Amino acid sequence: MVYLDNAATTRPFDEVTELVGKVMRQDFANPSSLHHLGIQAEEHLEKARQILADALQSTTGEIYFTSGGTETNNMVIKGAARAHQRKGKHIITSAIEHKSVLETCQALEREGYEVTRLPVDSNGMINLASFEESLRDDTILVSIMHVNNETGVIQPIDRVNEILRDRHARPLFHVDAVQSFGKTPLHPHPSGIDLLTLSSHKVHGPKGTGALFRKQGVNLTPLLDGGAQEGGLRSGTENLPGIAGFGKAVQMNFNDVFEKQLHMGHLRNRLRKKITDAFEDVVVNTPDDPQAAPHILNVSFPGLQGEVLLRKLESAGIYVSTGSACTSGKNKPSHVLQAMGRTRDVVQGALRFSFSIMNSEEETDQVMEHLVPAVKRMRKMMG
Ligand SMILES: Cc1ncc(COP(=O)(O)O)c(C=O)c1O
Repeated sequence: MVYLDNAATTRPFDEVTELVGKVMRQDFANPSSLHHLGIQAEEHLEKARQILADALQSTTGEIYFTSGGTETNNMVIKGAARAHQRKGKHIITSAIEHKSVLETCQALEREGYEVTRLPVDSNGMINLASFEESLRDDTILVSIMHVNNETGVIQPIDRVNEILRDRHARPLFHVDAVQSFGKTPLHPHPSGIDLLTLSSHKVHGPKGTGALFRKQGVNLTPLLDGGAQEGGLRSGTENLPGIAGFGKAVQMNFNDVFEKQLHMGHLRNRLRKKITDAFEDVVVNTPDDPQAAPHILNVSFPGLQGEVLLRKLESAGIYVSTGSACTSGKNKPSHVLQAMGRTRDVVQGALRFSFSIMNSEEETDQVMEHLVPAVKRMRKMMG
């Protein structure tokens, strides 16, 4: 099996699955319980919180555990909108965000908020001048993703911060860092980020676990009412095995993190070169370094169906994606490639290869062994 769908999800590290099992078997108590089993359970929670705080160069008081990236994005956008509506009802985001941001913004529009979706250029980058122009006195939140999940393009987070820093009524700044965590360096404090979203299953941790970084003092209205766990921001008994596993995964990712990023970037560049050498008319949707994260390569074969190519590769044991797995179950045309101005042919012919530290050079060779004849055969069939 060649698994190259790591932007959809990653295989958990063995150490993670072992720890998850151990916590479920032995440390199953409720971390809020006062007895010593509860305290033992709480230690896992606080250890994971410390690991995340260290990875983000923040403090443990700024880390809150959730059920994943989707929940954190909802919690931030709805929570900030509700907490700050007296200051204004305008939100800025980009056209290429993950659906958990775009759909949440749409839900707020139905409640009377106004949303500006920044367009992107052919590389998928927002335009900073248009961003500055879109800022208003009643803008309460700016939500821009760091790395895009379909193409790997990196948004200029520090430049956005520089523009926001000079505003007298500065809106809150949220960054969806689900795809960049461990892949492309980002530290919320120096980058002026108030709120940041993380997800465990993109970094070899368990699914259904995520986190929010919230800068001290930033006000959010909680989505859930209940037992006031996680500092009152996220009620509900914590997913202790998942959180412990998330902590372990982050610890392992951030051990020699730079070498890991170089490895993924090397595989991505190697496959990109092989594909562009082999196919004259291929369209590369992932920009060149340093504008892209190391783990994603999105290419289009105009005139072919990405999904048919995906099936051909699958029959050879190679697993890739046509775009965003979270939406591609429905196989809708990619809103990201459309926003980048790609033609219908190019959008339909897109394939995403996404790497992790578990992949090897040989696997990129295996891809080419099957991709080249598959494309040739499909082209021949189409005349
Ligand atoms: C950029 C981005 N944000 C948010 C999410 C949602 O995260 P989760 O699957 O943990 O809900 C994803 C998942 O694909 C993503 O790629």
